[in-house]
Amino acid sequence: MNRDAKIYVAGHQGLVGSALVRQLRAQGYANLLLLTHHELDLTKQSEVEKFFARERPEYVFLAAAKVGGILANSTYPAEFIYQNLLIQTNVIHEAYRTGVKRLLFLGSSCIYPKHAPQPMKEECLLTGPLEPTNRAYAVAKIAGIEMCWSHNRQHGTRFLAAMPSNLYGPGDHYDLHDSHVLPALIRKMHEAKLSGADQVVVWGTGSPRREFLFSDDAANACVFLMNLSNERMDAILANGRSLPIVNIGCGEDATVRELAELIADVVGFSGELVFDASKPDGTPQKLLDISLVTQLGWTPRTSLREGLAETYAEFVQRAYAIASTPEKANVV
Ligand SMILES: NC(=O)c1ccc[n+]([C@@H]2O[C@H](COP(=O)([O-])OP(=O)(O)OC[C@H]3O[C@@H](n4cnc5c(N)ncnc54)[C@H](OP(=O)(O)O)[C@@H]3O)[C@@H](O)[C@H]2O)c1
Repeated sequence: MNRDAKIYVAGHQGLVGSALVRQLRAQGYANLLLLTHHELDLTKQSEVEKFFARERPEYVFLAAAKVGGILANSTYPAEFIYQNLLIQTNVIHEAYRTGVKRLLFLGSSCIYPKHAPQPMKEECLLTGPLEPTNRAYAVAKIAGIEMCWSHNRQHGTRFLAAMPSNLYGPGDHYDLHDSHVLPALIRKMHEAKLSGADQVVVWGTGSPRREFLFSDDAANACVFLMNLSNERMDAILANGRSLPIVNIGCGEDATVRELAELIADVVGFSGELVFDASKPDGTPQKLLDISLVTQLGWTPRTSLREGLAETYAEFVQRAYAIASTPEKANVV
């Protein structure tokens, strides 16, 4: 991407989108197209059509989506499938129609089969049944990847999907009803510290292993992938014959217990961690094989401790703007 290229970051106020904006600006990209959800609702086909026809972005990062943790996914599957299908269909289709040079779609490690061999390689997508709790979201995301793949095959586009592991970082969601495990634990421990509570309950046994990637590292990987030479990009896409996906992760996982202990340390919560084994553990391990992206030349930079410290500092800054219902806590 030239430094003056017109780049549209869809979902720029979200966890990934805001990290993308920071990353792009830090690398000297200044011609960014940024519209809030309110300014452009990507589920509205005619609005998206008008926007692309008027603005003609050269590059598109598609980080707008309906996203949530296990509780939100299992409570609102109809919203997850409907909104995600519409957002990605509209954006990918208009990107093709208006001749966007490259599009990077955000997939996710949670759309691989529930029992995929670990660490999960790109080629295990679509090889087995999905995790039932987020199947609606996963099917939508898989449809987005298939759409990128189909355009690459039929029209020779260069549309690629990044497949990040669990992400965390500044700007994450801390509403306990909607959030993922890591921000939920940060919030619970912060509140326990302030109230002087002597224990925090963590869902499940603490034994499942999960991989966490700092959002700024994820954004760095996305910009790296967008900037691959045509030769390297085409080797991945193989004229539409290969799945257009690349895993991005930190390359190692931790148990939920280890994660909780590290968060307690970073937050300064010195009480007891109680693991409620009556709550579901979910898949025993979720770790990405990141050999493809590392062979391409990208490596993660931020340790889990460093990333947590930065995330917690930002959380504290805006802690009092958070509104939620702690009794609906969804921790794993
Ligand atoms: N978070 C993770 O752990 C994780 C892991 C792997 C992959 N990913 C993927 O990364 C992408 C971004 O996730 P995220 O965590 O950054 O989510 P996020 O923080 O919820 O951000 C999503 C953004 O999309 C916007 N948006 C939602 N619906 C929209 C619509 N109809 N029109 C316009 N904008 C809309 C949201 O705006 P409002 O908030 O105003 O609605 C928000 O700014 C998703 O595709 C997700 O699957 C995330």
